[in-house]
Amino acid sequence: MAQIPPHGGQLVNRIATASNKEKLLRESVDWKKIEIDLWTYADLECMAVGAFSPLRGFLNKSDYDSVVNDMRLSSGEVWTIPITLGVAEDLKHRVQLGEKVCLCYKGKTVAVMDITDCYRPDKQREAKCVYGTTDHHHPGVKRLFSQPDTYIGGPITLIERMPTLFPDYNLTPHETRVLFRTRGWDRVVGFQTRNPIHRAHEYIQKTALETVDGLFIQPLVGETKPGDIPATVRMKSYQVLLHHYYPSDRTALGVYPAAMRYAGPREAVLHALVRKNYGCTHFIVGRDHAGVGDYYGTYDSQHIFRQFEDHDLGIQPMFFEHSFYCTKCAGMASLKTCPHRDEDRVILSGTKVREMLKSGKTPPTEFSRREVIEVLMEGYRQEKGSGTCC
Ligand code: ADX
Repeated sequence: MAQIPPHGGQLVNRIATASNKEKLLRESVDWKKIEIDLWTYADLECMAVGAFSPLRGFLNKSDYDSVVNDMRLSSGEVWTIPITLGVAEDLKHRVQLGEKVCLCYKGKTVAVMDITDCYRPDKQREAKCVYGTTDHHHPGVKRLFSQPDTYIGGPITLIERMPTLFPDYNLTPHETRVLFRTRGWDRVVGFQTRNPIHRAHEYIQKTALETVDGLFIQPLVGETKPGDIPATVRMKSYQVLLHHYYPSDRTALGVYPAAMRYAGPREAVLHALVRKNYGCTHFIVGRDHAGVGDYYGTYDSQHIFRQFEDHDLGIQPMFFEHSFYCTKCAGMASLKTCPHRDEDRVILSGTKVREMLKSGKTPPTEFSRREVIEVLMEGYRQEKGSGTCC
């Protein structure tokens, strides 16, 4: 069976070849330099490796307006989150359209960009449309308004891949596609997470796996909000869980380098499109996917998929209801399958679990596997020791 085509039909590759890299570095010595942060570096990485196909660079004004207002690029492809580059006001007057600039991380040129557009975004509108709120307490909105008020758009070429803490798992879409083909997986379900895997995650992943050939767990390892468990600790928890409880010939672990936007429904669609680029045919969307606080309804991230035709997305979402361990069922179940009462169900919020771990209390094994809890508790012990806090 032919593999699922990438979004837009072709896997974008904007990584400079070795010879091109030397040439670009020589040519760009006198180009203007724009310093970027890790969040933007992660976006560059995602565009360069093709995770954000069909994007080849930061959005120009017409794509930006179209994405904000209509959830599509001007070409008509579905795209729900604007990928943009804000630059300081003074630069706006110093650069010209058609000019090439260096994008630098910690002073070092990591990419070059052709500036094809320079514009003022309507951030109020962007916040309202993309995040559903203009509340600056929302971490995505907070980030949006912390950015400069001028955006530049245009294609990029990545010279230096973003450093990763997870070299063994930092597979590109090209590499995962080869992996899935080698393993003979035609139907692959992708799983996004920014949390340690708990039993409900495991339940929905394995339920999904029952109907496809392979499961691709791809935790987001880019920037997350303060309070979320660090990616290094989370990755340990995935490794230990996979080792003990998952069939190695049907499961693969990777990482998704981008930052978490907490944009709920719109980010759920982005997450699905990205996983399509990595070669997944299916994508899991459970309760409050990519949500934060109570900005979104429990199933808003599922409902948004109704707004698109199947062929618009290509990848098939697999929806799951709120899942939990039920003491009466004596097993994992969901709102759809369990007839019992709330009191019979072991349901803990992420915040509650973090509080328990912080105070040295062990969350119940009905909530999280013992091996995962040990990793998390060790993570907290080390943090206490080092004086940092997650
Ligand atoms: S996030 O990236 O979507 O914010 P999170 O780790 O919270 O990550 O969830 C990963 C996936 O599991 C999402 O699709 C989410 O909807 C789903 N999920 C998390 N907890 C549950 C649960 N108890 N029941 C059903 N789905 C869940």
